[in-house]
Amino acid sequence: MVIRLKVLPFAVAVAVATGVLLSTHVVLQSRLSAKASSAGGAQRGNTQGAAPSDFDRLVHHNAEKMVEQGRQIFRYDTFGSEAFWGDALQLHKAIAGEKNGGVGGGVSPKTALSVGLKVDSDALPDSLKQQLKERKVDLDDPVTTLALLKLNAVVGVTGFFDEKGSLRSMGLQCAFCHATVDDSFVPGIGKRLDGWANRDLNVGLIVSLAPNLKPFTDLLGVDVATVKKVLTSWGPGRFDAELDKDGKAFRPDGQQAGTLIPPAFGLAGVNVHTWTGFGSVTYWNAHVAATEMHGSGTFFDARFNNRDQYPVAAKSGSGNTRGTPDIVTSKLAALHFYQLAIPAPRSPQSSFDRENAARGKAIFNSKAKCANCHVPPLFTEPGNNLHAPSEIGVDSFQADRSPTHMYRTAPLAGLWSHQKGVNWDEQS
Ligand code: HEC
Ligand code: HEC
Repeated sequence: MVIRLKVLPFAVAVAVATGVLLSTHVVLQSRLSAKASSAGGAQRGNTQGAAPSDFDRLVHHNAEKMVEQGRQIFRYDTFGSEAFWGDALQLHKAIAGEKNGGVGGGVSPKTALSVGLKVDSDALPDSLKQQLKERKVDLDDPVTTLALLKLNAVVGVTGFFDEKGSLRSMGLQCAFCHATVDDSFVPGIGKRLDGWANRDLNVGLIVSLAPNLKPFTDLLGVDVATVKKVLTSWGPGRFDAELDKDGKAFRPDGQQAGTLIPPAFGLAGVNVHTWTGFGSVTYWNAHVAATEMHGSGTFFDARFNNRDQYPVAAKSGSGNTRGTPDIVTSKLAALHFYQLAIPAPRSPQSSFDRENAARGKAIFNSKAKCANCHVPPLFTEPGNNLHAPSEIGVDSFQADRSPTHMYRTAPLAGLWSHQKGVNWDEQS
């Protein structure tokens, strides 16, 4: 009896929800003026070629909606991170420069492009494109950067302006690190390529410009000079997503400790993610949005309470982050869905020698046994795709920063698009 009472409201809720779904769907179906098909189609299983059932259409409609929402979130959602990058670090002031109400010389478009920031040409009005072509735009003046921010044209960065038009804060998006442009207008300016790793972006250098680095000095218990030294050690295409958890700023050999920014495409079908297999795509999305980008959201992972491995996180409590209001969790489903929908790009035909590639493929799949781990077409193992450092001949530094102490077999599809930043000499 007690159980029934508990179940009843749930059943009502489901009935109401289903009713809502069905009614929206009726509208959808009449809009599409499709042939009537019985709702039983889904249960019977449609044979190929038969008209899709109401339920099949509902799934399809849902998929399209999720992709569209996910794209918006990936490109434009700051998750409230302006409270950190702008309000706390005051990074926007370094961008604006003293003449525009900020501090220092400001960041000109030329400087912005030189540290790897990208501009979305689709966000530029035709008149501005024309002026750019005629070289009539001053690319040395931070005022131009502010104009680009107002147009929402700087990939992965959103500026917040006050009524007088002054930059009052700024936030970051996933696209900051995981998108680039196709350079179709000029290098650094073009159409967005979501999911591509921005290996030109010097994240650490950009962050080091912030007038107030106190949030970092407090967290890590070091001085400003040390924070700047660490941030500028990464170089283009790298970021250290574990620093704020384990406080390891440098490798034991004194080298920088950041990792390359991986692509966020071709991830469907791949089990665990990040170089060291922290978890699934959506696990990592919540982790990044709430603890790295400093958005306002929820993130839970008790593994970060381990004082020996994560002294900084155990102290800050970031393994149990409860930002209020939570403006991340409701976006995770669509964000996840969108990333899984982004295919790995195929290398342009003209970019490689077909004969050599065919010979390489044969070796990859046979003699060299690459395909044992990089199983085509996922190019990672179906299953628990992790390996001990000793198995692949890589030192254990990064692996030991993960709860897994392992390396994840990197999915190789689209590898050609993210070769920058890989220092092959360093590795040999
Ligand atoms: C400041 C740069 C930066 C930002 C912003 C950023 N990421 Fe990442 N991302 C990284 C780095 C670096 C890694 C690798 C971390 C590691 O393995 O230690 C990573 C890893 C990932 C992975 C794992 C990819 C794989 O190969 O398994 C996904 C997925 C991802 N990020 C998605 C996102 C999403 C979604 C957002 C926005 C919520 C985001 N990232 C924001 C730098 C960034
Ligand atoms: C025992 C399993 C295993 C075998 C066999 C293997 N790999 Fe890997 N591979 C890995 C793992 C694990 C990583 C990730 C290493 C890291 O994160 O540092 C990786 C990474 C890579 C990367 C870097 C990918 C990136 O995104 O930067 C390339 C390229 C690569 N492997 C190619 C190969 C080739 C070519 C072979 C055959 C000669 C091969 N691998 C054999 C497990 C394997």
